[in-house]
Amino acid sequence: MPRWAEIAYEAIAPVYDDFTAHHDYDLWLGQLLPKLEKHGIPPGRRLLDVACGTGKSFIPMLERGWQVTACDISPAMVEIARGKVGGRAELSEADMRELPVFGEFDVVFCLDDAVNYLLSSEELEQALTGMRRNLGPGGLLMFDVNTLEAYRNFFAEEVEVERDGRRMIWKGLSSPDAEPGSIAEASFEVEPLEESAGPAIPPELHRERHFPESEVRAALAAAGLECLDIYGHHHDAIPKQPLDEVAHTKGVYIASALS
Ligand SMILES: C[S@@+](CC[C@H](N)C(=O)[O-])C[C@H]1O[C@@H](n2cnc3c(N)ncnc32)[C@H](O)[C@@H]1O
Repeated sequence: MPRWAEIAYEAIAPVYDDFTAHHDYDLWLGQLLPKLEKHGIPPGRRLLDVACGTGKSFIPMLERGWQVTACDISPAMVEIARGKVGGRAELSEADMRELPVFGEFDVVFCLDDAVNYLLSSEELEQALTGMRRNLGPGGLLMFDVNTLEAYRNFFAEEVEVERDGRRMIWKGLSSPDAEPGSIAEASFEVEPLEESAGPAIPPELHRERHFPESEVRAALAAAGLECLDIYGHHHDAIPKQPLDEVAHTKGVYIASALS
């Protein structure tokens, strides 16, 4: 299986937290967790965070007293997460298209458009099947996907962020007319502005696929999951229904295993 995402994240890992410093997980999870609680989270407080990156999506859960297992395809991202939490979480490298069964979890997360790095509905179905196999009795799955708005804007524009003596450059190669189900690309590179800022990172491609709601629903059903709720939100992270591909930047899905 192609490992585009691993290549892209091995390159971006050293600066990922700087580039995404504005992503506020306390705000985001503060909005999303009540939507999960509405469906009755089992009491074990065991979380599996699939595609955990540098730990931004699970560290707030550790702080809330959850027991965390997490994995990612990129060894460099996992290493950074390990540096932050040491032995407080069980971390490993794994490709979500071939997800091992790590245990029985009350909640499985796959957050911040990690799912969009899957480039076909078959890959989405494989990943969702793996996530379903990790759900304990009554467990809930929550993941988000980027909407068309994200591929027509963020993936179609150039963004430069200067921090700690380096310039991080995101060049979206998509278009304002990106079609449902299309693959969008963006290149990411780093230019050091000071000697102390570390080496340059040459351009590396991020390749994501848009998944329309109908395709996600079909993949959920094929993976043996029941779709319980779908929300959309913009940068304010306030979940709204129904999901709107143009008004929202993200769609959020909540599911449980089909009985
Ligand atoms: C935007 S980051 C989000 C990371 C983390 N969930 C967060 O919210 O900060 C997307 C992550 O998905 C991971 N990823 C992409 N494809 C993957 C795959 N097939 N299996 C496991 N991880 C994958 C990348 O390595 C990257 O760490």
